[in-house]
Amino acid sequence: MNGETEKKIDELLALMTLKEKIGQLNQIIFDIHDIDGIKEKVRNGEVGSLIFAVSAFAGHDEYQMPELSVLNEIQRIAVEESPSGIPLINGRDVIHGYKTGFPIPLAMASSFNMELVEKSYRAAAEEAASEGIHWSFAPMIDVSNDPRWGRIIESAGEDPYLSGQYAVAAVKGFQGEQLSAPGSIAACAKHYIGYGASEGGRDYHRTEISDYTLRNKYLPPFREAVKAGAATVMTSFNDVSGQPVASSRYMLTDLLRSELGFRGFTISDWEAVKQLMRQGVAEDRKDCACLAINAGLDMDMVDLCYSDFLEELVNDGKVDMAAVDEAVKRVLRIKFAVGLFEHPYTKKLDVDYDKHMRIAYEIAAESIVLLKNNGVLPLCKNSNICLAGCMSDEQKALMGSWSSPEYENTVTIKNAIEKICNTGSFGCCLSSVPYELQQTLRNADIVILAIGESEKVTGEARSLCYIELPEDQIKLAKTAKRFGKKVVGVICSGRPMALESAEPYFDALLYAWHGGNMAGEAIADILFGRVCPSGKTAVTFPRRTGQVPIYYNVSSSGRPVNGYYGEEEINNYEDCLGSPMYPFGYGLSYTTFKYSDIKCNIAEMSLEELRGGKCFEVSIDVTNTGKYDGKETAQCYIRDTVSDMMRPIRELKGFKKVMIKCGETKKIIFRLGFDELGYYDRYGAFAVERGLFEIFIGPNCLTGTKITICVD
Ligand code: NOJ
Repeated sequence: MNGETEKKIDELLALMTLKEKIGQLNQIIFDIHDIDGIKEKVRNGEVGSLIFAVSAFAGHDEYQMPELSVLNEIQRIAVEESPSGIPLINGRDVIHGYKTGFPIPLAMASSFNMELVEKSYRAAAEEAASEGIHWSFAPMIDVSNDPRWGRIIESAGEDPYLSGQYAVAAVKGFQGEQLSAPGSIAACAKHYIGYGASEGGRDYHRTEISDYTLRNKYLPPFREAVKAGAATVMTSFNDVSGQPVASSRYMLTDLLRSELGFRGFTISDWEAVKQLMRQGVAEDRKDCACLAINAGLDMDMVDLCYSDFLEELVNDGKVDMAAVDEAVKRVLRIKFAVGLFEHPYTKKLDVDYDKHMRIAYEIAAESIVLLKNNGVLPLCKNSNICLAGCMSDEQKALMGSWSSPEYENTVTIKNAIEKICNTGSFGCCLSSVPYELQQTLRNADIVILAIGESEKVTGEARSLCYIELPEDQIKLAKTAKRFGKKVVGVICSGRPMALESAEPYFDALLYAWHGGNMAGEAIADILFGRVCPSGKTAVTFPRRTGQVPIYYNVSSSGRPVNGYYGEEEINNYEDCLGSPMYPFGYGLSYTTFKYSDIKCNIAEMSLEELRGGKCFEVSIDVTNTGKYDGKETAQCYIRDTVSDMMRPIRELKGFKKVMIKCGETKKIIFRLGFDELGYYDRYGAFAVERGLFEIFIGPNCLTGTKITICVD
């Protein structure tokens, strides 16, 4: 922020009454039925921001933005009639697309293609900006190990590094080169912090997180988002080890601002200030407001605690005027950065929706993960095919939770397959009754079962305690198998489902997530070999629900029970293997890749050199040894072999997705320096310890070629 803007902010502040200042910290719901009421509040300087949502569970609602003329008129009142003339900032959840529906974030992360992720968010930003939205409540970068948690769909999965890269791509996409440029909107990194650790996968539940784990696991994506310039941060509903985040000065000021260097403004989640009463740390709403503002929470989302009580609290001496001033300044800085003072009104942009659909197609195709293939895929378009299962003709479910209402544009899996499969016979059984499937499958060589879970069991406040594929869906596969058919499962889901009991009945399994508007076409193109699958799991797939939490970056246990990394003499469970069904970073292709010749440019380096910015360069040759051109994501993991604190057996520190033609070899190089080899110690200091580090490069977290390097 330049000095001139700071001067303007100080001048504005000097003219504002306390009431007007508090208005800037107040976000209210845009209620279409009370436009006059909103105008009145804006005119009186009581509002700093509008949120476009109809309920606390916006991810499940269908919502149409009001006409631009309505928004511009309200903005005109803010600029011309309110006492301080400060424009409003309009916020909305733009989670995985606006009009164009992109795959759910967990799927987009599984593309491991951050360029495409950035383009997707850019497209969403342009579409949203064109309708008067200045600010998106995304990206959600809560690391989570619990697929029972409905909100895992909104995250980039279980890995701090991947989530950090995802955060950077999303922030860059939303905010563009310049936040004030047309088509850019402010990003909001959420939910700060630890929400993904909700106990038992129960939404809004408590969390128990040590500082060590917080810094090494939950904070890294936020650190990246802050570095990438995220304009805002949303606080989470949960407590961390007994202290609600919304009232934690340690989290909101000491960590977020002093340690991570965040300069934007924070906003509470929906009524998260008021809920401090329910969490048992505040007596009444006034108390809630007092705790939150003193913790460093700048804007209050919809519960009006600030607007009702801050004035009194300042007058009582319970809140310093300086704390209010600081919060207002932070809000104003972002309003300046977004360009609202120069261009408060929205003009329709010339949005290229066709281009956005093409991006949606590309990322949908790259996010689909081939989990199993006994050689049945890709299909030949002359095959006699029978399609069945609840997802065959679905539109809404493919869009997932937090989707725009425009799901009517979605080509269903059935329509997309019909378009390709024009020479063979094509039968479709939309019933989920095995008997009816029998009638349709007689002439088929191949049965495609498009199954999975509805978007209605995913998202906010929609956790599951059982994440296996439903029995009636497995029954369809069993029926097809009984008739001697080849069975291909296309699973559309918002979470990694537990597939151990279903897997034996499928010859191939394609995990298509909730893939957005273009999911159907992407699925059909992969089934028929027009596209070579290249997605990799951004989260571990458990065998059974009871294995949860199961994640790859575990530390070694003292006894040989590290099931994730091989079945050993002591198993985790008597009734289930300890290893995952599919590990993190896993995904097959129609071609095969060979990893060979791992090398490091230097075997040893002093800690001083490393601190001075010198890096190890580890390279590997990846050869496409199969019959298709294809993309491969090479992944680089490290293990700090002996350290003061226990470190994970594998930690992702880099990935590269590259196209490799048949027969071609590509050399892939990873640079590992101080940032990659270090961790936050028990005192919160970032350190690299001397000693040996194992570097694994491979196609997933379990299969890799290893080399050892030494820091001395
Ligand atoms: C509650 C959700 O937790 C949050 O992610 C969302 O941004 C707000 N509601 C606003 O809709």
